[in-house]
Amino acid sequence: MTACLLTKGADKLRIIKDIPLNMFLSQREHKMKRIVSVLLVGIAIFTLAFSSPAFADTASGKKIFSANCASCHAGGKNLVQANKTLKKDALEKYGMYSAEAIIYQVTKGKNAMPAFKGRLKPAQIEDVTAYVLEQADKGWQ
Ligand code: HEC
Repeated sequence: MTACLLTKGADKLRIIKDIPLNMFLSQREHKMKRIVSVLLVGIAIFTLAFSSPAFADTASGKKIFSANCASCHAGGKNLVQANKTLKKDALEKYGMYSAEAIIYQVTKGKNAMPAFKGRLKPAQIEDVTAYVLEQADKGWQ
């Protein structure tokens, strides 16, 4: 019984060995190269499409907003300077409807709005920015 199994195993080995190994390998290599290049292109597209702050975490942004911004911007309003709300039309009007502009202003501050550099980490500023833009698009409902 055991001997029989062993010979069978050996036969299989020989059969595998008989297959032109080069061809087998190069086909596999070819496939691997294709898979790798598809993966690389995928990663590149993913990185481009979701590079920060689109990658930012709006759930964390919401918490950061409540703790740091809501005192002046509750509901997307502006309690200090009424016209400068966080609503889409106001953001567009004042050139603030972009992640770059909001990140810049939150980091550096502007007039009566304090700078958050040092108080919030860059990643937190990205998160809160993503939240503001998301809410602006949703109309702060
Ligand atoms: C002490 C009150 C105060 C706090 C706190 C505050 N802001 Fe502001 N914010 C302002 C004022 C005042 C302006 C108008 C600045 C100007 O243009 O002179 C403003 C403007 C803005 C604008 C531009 C609005 C527009 O229509 O042009 C954005 C975006 C913004 N704030 C985001 C934030 C975020 C995000 C936070 C929290 C990290 C925050 N603010 C915290 C007072 C505040």
